[in-house]
Amino acid sequence: MITHAFDLAVVNSWLEYRLDAKRANLQTKDTLDRLHFKMNVAQCLHADNSLIPVPKDNRTRASKAHQRGFQLHESCVTENKRITMANQMRYIHQRPPTWSDTLPTLHVITPTYRRPVQKAELTRLTNTFLHVPNLHWLVVEDSVQKTAIVSRLLENTGLNYTHLNVETPENLKTQKKPKNVRIPRGTMQRNLALRWLRENINPNSSRKGVVYFADDDNTYSLELFEEMRWTHKASVWPVAFVGGLRYESPKINSQGKVFGWRTVFDPHRPFAIDMAGFAVNLQLILGKPQAYFKLKGVKGGYQESSLLQDLVTLSDLEPKAANCTKILVWHTRTERPLLVNEGKKGFTNGSMEV
Ligand SMILES: *[C@@H]1O[C@H](CO)[C@@H](O)[C@H](O)[C@H]1NC(C)=O
Repeated sequence: MITHAFDLAVVNSWLEYRLDAKRANLQTKDTLDRLHFKMNVAQCLHADNSLIPVPKDNRTRASKAHQRGFQLHESCVTENKRITMANQMRYIHQRPPTWSDTLPTLHVITPTYRRPVQKAELTRLTNTFLHVPNLHWLVVEDSVQKTAIVSRLLENTGLNYTHLNVETPENLKTQKKPKNVRIPRGTMQRNLALRWLRENINPNSSRKGVVYFADDDNTYSLELFEEMRWTHKASVWPVAFVGGLRYESPKINSQGKVFGWRTVFDPHRPFAIDMAGFAVNLQLILGKPQAYFKLKGVKGGYQESSLLQDLVTLSDLEPKAANCTKILVWHTRTERPLLVNEGKKGFTNGSMEV
């Protein structure tokens, strides 16, 4: 049974290897057939003194291989212009996946603030992003200084990230303030990340990119990132659990173009779409340096429109997720934990990082 499972994993790896080789335009003669791939995997594992057992049918060959151990080990790790087996093995197990020079980079902007569930939320996001190739995470704290808890978490993720911070002035974030002076949570942080991109990425670079605003309380399908990766101007898709509905969605006509919004709340907004429901091409962000989220005087639900209006028109929008028929992101929101017993002094250790 274990042998069978291993075999299956190897065959899957082989399929992935073949796909990869195809993408890398390798000639068929340069790619290994399935049996040779399996042997090579077995040899590499064996030469690495891996604890994973060598499948039965390859055991003889593998142990012969082991007698030539050094040589084989060399062949598994040697530098080679082609995709070597060792590289392939690393690719399969590596999180995040190896950086690709051909895939557009996803610049994912996440505003965050200190609260009991913050580390849990960022951990969940990390575990998603670790599966996504070419992801650059811009984490912007709403704080006077970068906090130790977020700094440590980011250092340990292995992700490609940029850590920023800006504090929303206390007097402008309170819910009690009248709407016209209040700055919605996350706005200054998202704007700082936009500024960072404009100041740090050369607009003449040929490297492609996409910008996405990913709040830390949502749930993201891995498919979503591949849907948005080749965005020309702005791509859009449905978002679940927003606006008092199971989902909100752009309306798509028979030509596959957006012609309106399937929402209950004010569908006549220029862009009646949640923050998690769109991504914008990086060149567009860099090329329109005046485009930011408006800080003040923005009516509820108009924040997204305040940025998108400066960047695109309705006809520019590219519907994704099978013409907006699939849900790939959920505005889940984590329940605020009840910490009523924390008042009873000395019960938990205050120095424990949670
Ligand atoms: C979306 O709809 C358009 C127009 O009906 C169609 O041409 C296109 O193939 C559809 N795309 C997908 C991914 O279903």
